Amino acid sequence: MIILETEKLEYSYPDGTKAIDDVSIQIPAGEKVSFVGKNGSGKSTLFLLLNGTLKPKKGKVLLGGKEISYSSSGLLDLRKRVGIVFQNSDDQIIAPTVYQDIAFGPVNLNYKKEEIDRIVSKMLDYFGLQSLKDKPPHHLSGGQKKRVAIAGVLAMDPDVIILDEPLSNLDPVGADEILDILNELNHSGKTIIISTHDVDLAYKWSDRVFLMSGGKLIDEGSPKEVFSNEAQVRNASLKNPVILDFYHELEKRWLATGGQQPKDIPELVQLLHKIDLMRVSVGPNTRVGECVNLGVLYGDYSKDGLYEAVNSRVLCKNDDGTAVVELNRRVLNPGNICVYNMDSFDKNEYEQIVAEYKINFIGAMGKKSKERAEEEGIPVVCNSGVIDKSILNALTGNRCLILTSQGMVEHTSKRIRDYIKKSGIRLSFHPIGKSAAEIDENAKKREENPEKLSVEENKLKVSTYDHGIEDEETRG
Ligand SMILES: Nc1ncnc2c1ncn2[C@@H]1O[C@H](COP(=O)(O)OP(=O)(O)OP(=O)(O)O)[C@@H](O)[C@H]1O
Ligand SMILES: [Mg+2]
Repeated sequence: MIILETEKLEYSYPDGTKAIDDVSIQIPAGEKVSFVGKNGSGKSTLFLLLNGTLKPKKGKVLLGGKEISYSSSGLLDLRKRVGIVFQNSDDQIIAPTVYQDIAFGPVNLNYKKEEIDRIVSKMLDYFGLQSLKDKPPHHLSGGQKKRVAIAGVLAMDPDVIILDEPLSNLDPVGADEILDILNELNHSGKTIIISTHDVDLAYKWSDRVFLMSGGKLIDEGSPKEVFSNEAQVRNASLKNPVILDFYHELEKRWLATGGQQPKDIPELVQLLHKIDLMRVSVGPNTRVGECVNLGVLYGDYSKDGLYEAVNSRVLCKNDDGTAVVELNRRVLNPGNICVYNMDSFDKNEYEQIVAEYKINFIGAMGKKSKERAEEEGIPVVCNSGVIDKSILNALTGNRCLILTSQGMVEHTSKRIRDYIKKSGIRLSFHPIGKSAAEIDENAKKREENPEKLSVEENKLKVSTYDHGIEDEETRG
């Protein structure tokens, strides 16, 4: 279903600058969408048109198939359903305290006081802003203001969330946390639209990319489609995603399988050719080209796992009874990944898991899980890019535990399962602890049989995602 669309949209500013020129787009509900384009290409103007802040000179904006109305009640309704986080947080934050700013939307929607308190408190928790709740927003740092601005929009629980450069001003871990939240909201059914100059982000994160230049839409499609046209990306004054540049260099040197488009580091690792030579002792009758079984290698000799079964082919033989062989390794024991729901943290259960699975790598995702882990004195070694890093660690035989919260369990599990399915590597994976296992079981049922969800399960899902974040959920 198309949730938001424009038809031949045109907009010029009063000074005559034509900022949007004949733009027709269709945004399917539930997608993660990026608008990419250089400075002045029209992204912010388009976003202001999408939520009715600006009125087009020509063309239409449609929400759920209906043309939007610019009457005050029409606009109020539109803004309830389409929330926008402005590029500059100072344009957004107006109230005297952080608390009041986040409460602004719910107050205008005439929610009851207790409901407003509940929503705001959840937002403060969610964005790690509790300690700043009484501060005037203009005394906050740029990144803190950005969090307040996003929290204020999420407090209205819109179906479509538009964020103009959401990660500008944020430190890397803070940016990762916002992405976790956006992924989680998307997982609960929200449509997320961002603008960015960060081609790496657009390439890795989005389901769909719109490329803008000079107020026009010049391309659209999946990130792989849009970024495969290098000349066009260059013409739009953008760069290739770094991961693609790096991959192309490896490809040229025969170091990676050609003709692919890895999206992230785990995908890239899967494409690397293994040039793997070793000098070994061989019998007097061994000939060049023959296969030699080297048995099981481990410790310093294994590369991809704890134990590897290794066959080899003799490339050349030396006079001293040794030969150089090319190895063909098969991992016997890749590591594992456990996912634990910190919302139902139980010290005994946690300690049992760490001991039973011999956990030696712990990552935490989401503000709430990180804070809880700190309170409990858990030795977290990774707090950003947690899923990718856990996969990479598990591939080298480590035993990883991802600490996360309610809704993030489902998303995390899906990412890891997709990786296992695509790569064919038999990593062992366990949503662990009573609560995570239950969430995962329900998610699997939904995936297998989406139309047969019982009324109770549907209710459960809706209440879990109430205001997008009832019980804090996740990422990709
Ligand atoms: N208030 C305004 N009055 C006149 N021209 C404007 C105004 N705001 C933007 N413009 C012009 O409209 C064009 C599109 O600007 P817009 O802010 O939409 O670009 P953008 O893609 O969001 O850029 P950036 O990446 O820098 O945020 C630019 O040429 C800009 O100079
Ligand atoms: Mg802009």
